[in-house]
This record gives sequence, C-alpha cells and structure tokens, in this order.
Amino acid sequence: MAPLNIVVGITGGIAAYKAVGVIRALVLAGHDVHVVPTEGALRFVGRPTLEAISRNPVHTELYEGVAEVRHVAIGQAADLIVIAPATANSIAKLAAGLADDLLGNTVLASEAPLVIAPAMHTEMWRNPATRANIETLRARGVTIVGPAVGQLTGADSGPGRMEEPEVIVAAALARAEASARGDLAGRRVVVTAGGTREPLDPVRFLGNRSSGKQGVAIAEAARARGAEVTLIAANLEVIEPAGCDIRPVSTALELQQAVTDAARGADVVVMAAAVADYRPAGVSQTKIKKDASDDGLTLELVRNPDILAGLGHAPHDGTLLVGFAAETEPDDERLLALGRAKREAKGADLLVVNRVGWNEGFASDANRVVVIGRSGEVVTRVHGSKMSVAEGILDVVVSELTTARHDPPTKEDEPTT
Ligand code: CTP
Repeated sequence: MAPLNIVVGITGGIAAYKAVGVIRALVLAGHDVHVVPTEGALRFVGRPTLEAISRNPVHTELYEGVAEVRHVAIGQAADLIVIAPATANSIAKLAAGLADDLLGNTVLASEAPLVIAPAMHTEMWRNPATRANIETLRARGVTIVGPAVGQLTGADSGPGRMEEPEVIVAAALARAEASARGDLAGRRVVVTAGGTREPLDPVRFLGNRSSGKQGVAIAEAARARGAEVTLIAANLEVIEPAGCDIRPVSTALELQQAVTDAARGADVVVMAAAVADYRPAGVSQTKIKKDASDDGLTLELVRNPDILAGLGHAPHDGTLLVGFAAETEPDDERLLALGRAKREAKGADLLVVNRVGWNEGFASDANRVVVIGRSGEVVTRVHGSKMSVAEGILDVVVSELTTARHDPPTKEDEPTT
C-alpha cells in the first residue's frame, strides 16, 4: 500500500496511552502520521512521546500556526483520520459537528475516511445519547471499531474497552484502501445479514444467535468500495450501515421474498444471514398457555425453503453467489470437507466457511474464515476483525467479477436518456 498521510486524533481517556501503539504501527508500516491530541489527551500521554513516536511535530492549539491556516490544512491534507480513543464526549462533539479545538476543525475540514475507536465505561457506551451519536456517525459513513468487551479502568468490565491497536490499525488501513480503490463502483451487491425468527405465537419465536455483524461489515465494506448495496436485514442486533438500501425482514419466507426480488440483475449476492431450516407448522394467534396436565410440549416444525440453493440451482449467470457455512466441526480437514459439500449442494460460486460454537463466531467482533471456490479449492483464509474478514471476502469477489463471466458494465450498456 502506498504511504498515506494519516491524522491520528487522541481524545482524553485513559486508553490514550494505547494510542501510542496505534501511531507506532502506522509509522512502522511506512505512513506519515500527524498526531492531533485534545487538551484532555495530553493529560494522559505526553507531547514528547507523541512527537518521538510519530516523528512529526504535534499540535493541539487552535490559535497557533494561524498563518499557515493549520486548523484546516491538517484535515485537507489527510488521506485517513483515525481517532483512538474516542471518548463519549468527543463522539458527541463529532456527531454535532463542533469545531472548538484543533481536532474538531481537522475532522470538519477533511474529506478523508474517518475511523474511530470508542473507549468509555459501559454505562456511557449504553447511554441513549451515545447510542444516538454513534448511529449518526455511522449513518455518515464513519467506521466504528469496537469497543471491545473486557476489563475497564476500574474493577468493572463490559463493553467499552478500546480495541487493541493492531485491530484498529488493520480496520483503518482496510477502510482507507477500500475508499481509494473503489473497485466495486458500478456494481450492485445484495447482502443478507442477521438471523431469521420463526414465530410460535405473538410473544415467542424460534431464532438463532447470529448478530449480523459479519454481514453488516460486508455491506459496509462493499459500500465503501463504491457498490450500490441492498442489505436484507433479518432482526439485526447491530446498527445498520450508512448508504445502503436496507430491507428489514424477520422470517425465512420474508427473507426469501426480499432476496429473490433484490437479486434480479445484481452482480453479487452474499448470503451471510443465518436462516432457520424449520418453522413451526402453525402460528398460534394467542399466547400458548401451559397445560397443567402435561409436563412437556411437542412442537411440530416444517422445512423452510433453502434460499441459497434455490438461487444457486436457478440460472444465475452474471450474478456471483456467495454462501456461508456455519459449522461446529473442530477438525480443520473435516470442516473443509463439510464446506465443499455444502457449496456443491447449494450451487454457490463461493462458500465462506465459518466455525461457530458457544464462544466462537456469533456476537464477537473477530472472525476466522476459509473461502472455497468452484472446484472445492481454498481460495483464501482470512482472520481478524469482521471488517478485515469482510475486505478479504470482497477481494475474492472483486477478482471473480473481473473474469470474463462477470464483466463490469460498460458505457455502451448504460441506458441513454
Ligand atoms: N441458507 C439458506 N436457506 C436456508 C438455510 C441456509 O439460504 N433455509 C443459507 C445460509 O444463508 C448460508 C448457507 O445457506 O449462506 C449455509 O447455511 P448453514 O446454516 O451453514 O447451512 P444449512 O443449509 O442450514 O445446513 P445445516 O444446518 O444442515 O448445516
């Protein structure tokens, strides 16, 4: 990757000491790093440390360097802005577009992709004000990395801990690279994400533990690469990404209808959703009551259609079909064999094999996958944050699309008005 001009913003939280690791990794990767700490950040980490590690002078003052119009020059020159840690206060300021310090001005004056790594106590992260601010930022296309779940500053633990520097760096560089490449421009990509819910009665459903994070990361990454993205969102437990056409669904049958409609004329369909294989044979219109004379309940289930197989076995020339396989098989070779069989059975062009378990795969922010191609070959193995995995999968998609079978639209194909 060509060297980038990267601004690292640091705001005033204890995780500021870990920002040094982010700066160091970016400098060692060959990038030109300019650090803009807030006044609060400098209480946690000293300017000499930041200057030594970044190998550049560090400025914080809005009213210094006025002759060189520093308050906009830093942001205008940036190829990427990373804010780590981003405190609840700084997130609120970003959402409101405030420019009362050098970092706020830098962000507002920049058109570069913005990546932030929130860090705060769990209560602050869960506060509706912070949730709304994060949603606003995400809707503007800001990439949010973490927070991770774990030990916080005090004795407490929970979501709010800043992601590790290497995770932030990988996600930030992947975002910058994707924005620069635009290699899905002019493509229409459909992604299904989340887990379907099959109602039993007005208050209960059969569901699964898919959070939708991996599918949403794929939608977000495809959007950043210039694609027009339709996201079929099945009961998502994560915030929906910006700039996508979102179609909410709940059951497998609703998902089937939505994806079949959206898939017409699409260049790529990614079936990342966890679809229920069975649904209750009947849905009670009233809440099912316990029966005092009985100590068990038997549910009758009927098969749902296999949506991916339906798409895979219908003619789908020009549409690259990417399936997922969620498997609990611990042995690597047997896991691959299951993936190969599943790809073949469903007629997918690519199959992303994902090991899942009680503690693996679902709500976590990291993932490890193997992508299997049409002849059963391993096309790539990717692990890391769900965003890095999304980029790895899209790299394969892009290289498949550039083969003759999936030619990109040409000027002649465009309708004239
Ligand atoms: N899938 C689908 N329709 C279903 C079930 C699954 O389209 N009724 C899709 C999923 O979106 C995924 C792929 O098929 O892309 C594999 O899903 P997975 O749950 O791993 O496999 P199943 O087909 O359900 O097989 P099994 O549960 O027997 O492993």
